[in-house]
Amino acid sequence: MSAGSCPVARSVSAGAAAFDPFGERYQADPPASLRWSRDEEPVFYSPEIGYWVITRYADVRAVFRDNVLFSPSIALEKITPVSAAATRKLAEHGYAMDRTLVNEDEPAHQPRRRALMGSFAPEALAEHEPMVRELAREYVDRFVDAGEADLVDEMFWEVTLTVALHFLGVPEEDVPTLRKYSIAHTVNTWGRPSPEQQVEVADAVGHFWRYAGEVLAKLRADPSGPGWMPCSIRLQQQMPETITDSYLHSMMMAGIVAAHETTANAAANAVKSLLENRSAWDELCADPSLISNAVEECLRHNGSVAAWRRVATADAEIGGVSIPRGAKLLIVNSSANHDERHFDDPDGFDIRRDNAADHLTFGYGSHQCLGKNLARMELQVFLEELTKRLPHLERVPGRELTYLPNTSFRGPEHLWVRWDPAANPERRDP
Ligand code: HEM
Repeated sequence: MSAGSCPVARSVSAGAAAFDPFGERYQADPPASLRWSRDEEPVFYSPEIGYWVITRYADVRAVFRDNVLFSPSIALEKITPVSAAATRKLAEHGYAMDRTLVNEDEPAHQPRRRALMGSFAPEALAEHEPMVRELAREYVDRFVDAGEADLVDEMFWEVTLTVALHFLGVPEEDVPTLRKYSIAHTVNTWGRPSPEQQVEVADAVGHFWRYAGEVLAKLRADPSGPGWMPCSIRLQQQMPETITDSYLHSMMMAGIVAAHETTANAAANAVKSLLENRSAWDELCADPSLISNAVEECLRHNGSVAAWRRVATADAEIGGVSIPRGAKLLIVNSSANHDERHFDDPDGFDIRRDNAADHLTFGYGSHQCLGKNLARMELQVFLEELTKRLPHLERVPGRELTYLPNTSFRGPEHLWVRWDPAANPERRDP
């Protein structure tokens, strides 16, 4: 047991003792479930998970900012200890997920980030927009006359995966299989699977790892094409010590997850928030120039990454609380986004909010999400297309939302919406 996780002689308040990020309250609404903490005890030790939990905006940002004192090395560690059987299953697949950018310490991280960031430059991202728009239109075409759709299954999941594969330069593969793998990766990393589920999940993760290796081998055979992975393979020839084989394999797998599930969930969260705040949706339909700030407010109010992790590399202080070296931290960025110390009326949904873009959904500082502008562009295009073509969209009553129980990746598994096809602008006003 590391120094930081030793619970010996630590007094724990009732709120801290009751905190369970896999429990119903956190799963239903992470920021609301931690309101007590933001008010009374913004830094607390959770015996349930063996983590220190950080919930206020200023503290969460300070932890993100100092990536040396608060190392990201545990960001992709399995939050639920892995059983021996699951470990064996992963070993059978040769699973060897190692560092990627997101969990890399300095001094290795910055040179890699600099070397790999060209594909995220605004000019490079602009090239993807026509494809995103075309895909969004094509998927809406498929259901526009149906009157009812599950936007997650029938649009967001597949479009964001196709964009992610395109961005990575991976030939389009089997979308349903990759969906299964991505869900397994989320449960494996941030969930609490039962011992039986652990083996099943480990098997899917192992297949995902093999798949990533096979795709990498194909791209290596001809790395002349466009996309982040071929570009990284070409860079490896110039800087083999910075971009290693293990790094490329890990990045191949982590890249699919980073680029895809986060954005699919963000799109579903955004539409949900807007339809629940009908006047905001109607305003976007009437004036699409409001969409870009609305995207930020959606990411703030109901972001798709609810919490992230760091580990203290030395004794530290956060918000006046002493934290021992080795302490694992659950930094709840979704709670920070609802902190009244930074945002006025933080639970209100306001598409004109001045400081909506201050949200911490993409993290902060030297590890801040590299793909944030690609994600923003996808959300912008989805909202433009949906508000234009289905302005009278509404949630289907009685269809409750369900979430995959885990600490970090958050979005409804399905989002059923309906409309009257006869009232579609393209029929009414062709
Ligand atoms: C890192 C969130 C979309 C690629 C991160 C981090 C978060 C995050 C919280 C960690 C930041 C930190 O430690 O400070 C999100 C959300 C997304 C999204 C909410 C969608 C709404 C994407 C996309 C891509 C991407 C589309 C790629 C195309 C990355 C990479 C990193 C990262 C490469 C690691 C950066 C580093 O450590 O230097 N993201 N992400 N993300 N994300 Fe995203």
